[in-house]
Amino acid sequence: MKFFVDGADVQEIKALSEIGMVDGITTNPSIIAKTGKNFFKVIEELCALTQGPVSAEVTALDAKTMIQEALKLRTIASNVCIKVPLTEEGLKACYELRQKDIMVNVTLCFSALQAIMAAKAGATYVSPFIGRLDDIGHNGLHLIEEICQIYDQYPEFSTEVLAASVRSPFQIREIALMGADVVTAPSSIIRSMVKHPLTDKGIVDFLKDWEKTGQSIL
Ligand code: E4P
Repeated sequence: MKFFVDGADVQEIKALSEIGMVDGITTNPSIIAKTGKNFFKVIEELCALTQGPVSAEVTALDAKTMIQEALKLRTIASNVCIKVPLTEEGLKACYELRQKDIMVNVTLCFSALQAIMAAKAGATYVSPFIGRLDDIGHNGLHLIEEICQIYDQYPEFSTEVLAASVRSPFQIREIALMGADVVTAPSSIIRSMVKHPLTDKGIVDFLKDWEKTGQSIL
């Protein structure tokens, strides 16, 4: 299972890299806007942090302009993965970019039918958004399960399921059980996965007993 960090905080991503948790990075226009920095500069910085794919999203709505934007974004670094929305124009851009062997992440996926189309268009990744479906009373995790099940039945589909819009560590457990290829989550959620009160208590208890021995390892 691959972990992508959903965000643009360089220090946070570096910290996660040091424990082997960064296989790639995803961004979107909202994340870029929050940085207050130049889009190209941010993507360049992020691309230097990982050899894995860094998703940069196009903002055009028509395929022709999406492709122009994609080609410009690809001049930043070879690990830029182009993010296109799951619309007919987005699929058209995806299909053409894949002919040029450019990585494409088809984003804003909210149904299994859309995910089938992304796979048919040759997407490298499809990003179903869990949290945003939950927000409107649907079941985001169920969508991940459906897509994994469908893709598993068709070996000709090489698109990887990239579970996105993750809001809790519990969801990552569920996503892993379903067999999604990749999860992208904010660094805070990935870091919270390590926490367990019994681990902390165990350390305290062991150290108390160790002190009684009067020994030291170094
Ligand atoms: C994924 O690529 C998206 O950037 C992200 O997961 C969106 O998450 P949100 O719904 O929490 O904004």
